Formats: sequence, C-alpha cells, structure tokens
Amino acid sequence: MLSSLLPHCLVLAALYTLCSIPLVQAWIQYPPNGNATMTHYTLPQNYIAACGCTAASTHYPTVAMSQMAFGSSTAYGPGCGRCFKLTLLNTFTSDPPFFPDVNKSLVVKVTDLCPTGGNGWCSATSDKANLGGEFINFDLAWPSPAIPDDFFPSNVSFYGYADFGVWNVSYEAVSCLQGWAGARQNAALGSVDDGSSVCCPADPTGNVNDTCPSYSDQNGIPPDTTTSWAPALLTGSIPSRAVLSLLFVLALLACSI
Ligand SMILES: *[C@@H]1O[C@H](CO)[C@@H](O)[C@H](O)[C@H]1NC(C)=O
Ligand SMILES: *[C@@H]1O[C@H](CO)[C@@H](O)[C@H](O)[C@H]1NC(C)=O
Ligand SMILES: *[C@@H]1O[C@H](CO)[C@@H](O)[C@H](O)[C@H]1NC(C)=O
Ligand SMILES: *[C@@H]1O[C@H](CO)[C@@H](O)[C@H](O)[C@H]1NC(C)=O
Ligand SMILES: *[C@@H]1O[C@H](CO)[C@@H](O)[C@H](O)[C@H]1NC(C)=O
Repeated sequence: MLSSLLPHCLVLAALYTLCSIPLVQAWIQYPPNGNATMTHYTLPQNYIAACGCTAASTHYPTVAMSQMAFGSSTAYGPGCGRCFKLTLLNTFTSDPPFFPDVNKSLVVKVTDLCPTGGNGWCSATSDKANLGGEFINFDLAWPSPAIPDDFFPSNVSFYGYADFGVWNVSYEAVSCLQGWAGARQNAALGSVDDGSSVCCPADPTGNVNDTCPSYSDQNGIPPDTTTSWAPALLTGSIPSRAVLSLLFVLALLACSI
C-alpha cells in the first residue's frame, strides 16, 4: 500500500519544492533606441504617481513605463525620471493598419509604473514580448494640457472613430534637460518629500549616482508577473505561495499516514 503511494508522494514533494522557490524574473534590459508600443491612460493633473515626481511634473508630457522595463513592481525603479523621444509609427490593432502621413514625436518623462496584467500591453517579460511583439510599452498620460488633443493622427471618415488606442512607436533615450518640456521648471523636477519611498531624478543617465535603484530589489519583493493562475502559483505573492506550500505539506502528511 505504502509503496504504491510513494511515487505520488515524490511528485508532491517535487511540487512543494518548486512552489517554495521564488522564481526570479529578470528585469528587461533594453537598448537606448528601438521600437515599442504606446497606449494612453488617464492621469489626473497634479497626481503623484509611482515614482513620486512632483505634482507639477503632470503639467508636462509624462508616461507610465511597463513594469519589467521600469525595473520594479512597486514604487520607484530605474525607469523613474528617464526621458524618451517617442515617434508614432502606425496602428496595428485597427483593420486595416493605419499609417499616418506625418511622423509625430514627443519627449516624455517616466513618472509612473504600468503594471503587468490588465489588458496585457504592459505585461512583457524578458522572455515574452507583449501583444505587439515589443518588450516596452509607454502608457502616455493623455489627454493632457501639455499635449494637443489632436496629437494622435486619425482618419475618422474612414475608420469611424478617432482613437486607435495602441500604436507602434520608435523610442530614443534622450537627456531630459535637453529634450523634456518641463526641464527648466524647477517645480516639475525632483520628487515629493512626503516621507514615503520616492525617487524622481531630474536627469538620470544610468549612472548609479543619478539613477533610481529598484524598490522591489531593495525590499526583496519578487517581480509580480502574474497573468494567469499557473504563474500565480509560481511567482505569486509570498502569502499565496505560503498557502500553497501549506496545502502540499498537508498532502504530504496525508501521504505518509
Ligand atoms: C523598428 O521598426 C521598423 C519598422 O517600422 C524597422 O524597420 C526597424 O528595424 C525596427 N527596429 C528595431 C530595432 O527592431
Ligand atoms: C516616417 O518615418 C518613416 C521611418 O523613418 C519613413 O519611412 C517615412 O517616410 C516617414 N514619413 C514621413 C511622412 O515623413
Ligand atoms: C507593429 O506591430 C505589428 C503587429 O505586431 C508588427 O507586425 C509590425 O512589425 C509593427 N511595426 C513596427 C513599425 O514596429
Ligand atoms: C482616410 O482614408 C481614406 C481611405 O484610405 C483615404 O482615401 C483618405 O485620404 C484618408 N484621409 C485622411 C485624412 O487620412
Ligand atoms: C558615485 O558617487 C561616489 C561618491 O561620490 C563616487 O565615489 C563614485 O565613483 C560614483 N560612481 C560613479 C559610477 O560615478
């Protein structure tokens, strides 16, 4: 009886071990130039987002960067404060794809984190691109007084709607001081000193002395890349793994009786 149950117990033991080890997902290392996707989201004026950049930063073009490129699953990460020149290329979720007859660009500053999950555009991991085949998504705070309402090209008479929602863009890392519209406004630079964990450099270059560390790494918080139940069991929060581990311990006990 016991010997026939042994293989099951071994499987359980293996599963238990697997679930006890936090699977470490690597942050996405991206080149200074490349392609990405771009979406937009509503960020209220003067809202203090994940990086803790000042309220006045919202008066200029800002974005939330997809989590695994941002470099933290909460609070600040190495993406905070970085500036990128984004150029709209085409839309591809529309049928047919839309190619504008102008190439519109915008320099944005990263002030927020776009978490994995949700509709998936911010869910790329180092080994899995998002739905657009890209590893970075820039979620633009728009509408915004800093960006014209007609910034996104459209063709309403043909498509019947103006907002394509998702764009292919090219990006280029740029100096904030040279490129970002808020660069000469002191009120728009730096972070809010409100006692919480914030980090929003005026012009991060990637050097450890002027670029934010990863809040997740500093605090031992594993990147949360949960998008379905299976990864949730493996990379989920510590409590969910603990509950799961407990179930396996109980199963093992049942096995050994
Ligand atoms: C970006 O997309 C363009 C097409 O729009 C392509 O020609 C180019 O090779 C892509 N660049 C990279 C780095 O993938
Ligand atoms: C937009 O940029 C693309 C890629 O750089 C180029 O092929 C195209 O000719 C440009 N279009 C216009 C209208 O400038
Ligand atoms: C835009 O996205 C589509 C769909 O994934 C892809 O086939 C295409 O190559 C992308 N274009 C650019 C310019 O990156
Ligand atoms: C809209 O699309 C139609 C069909 O492709 C085209 O004939 C027309 O020139 C487009 N208009 C604009 C403003 O892009
Ligand atoms: C960072 O700052 C420290 C102290 O000022 C300095 O010793 C170190 O060389 C700097 N690191 C880099 C990469 O510049």
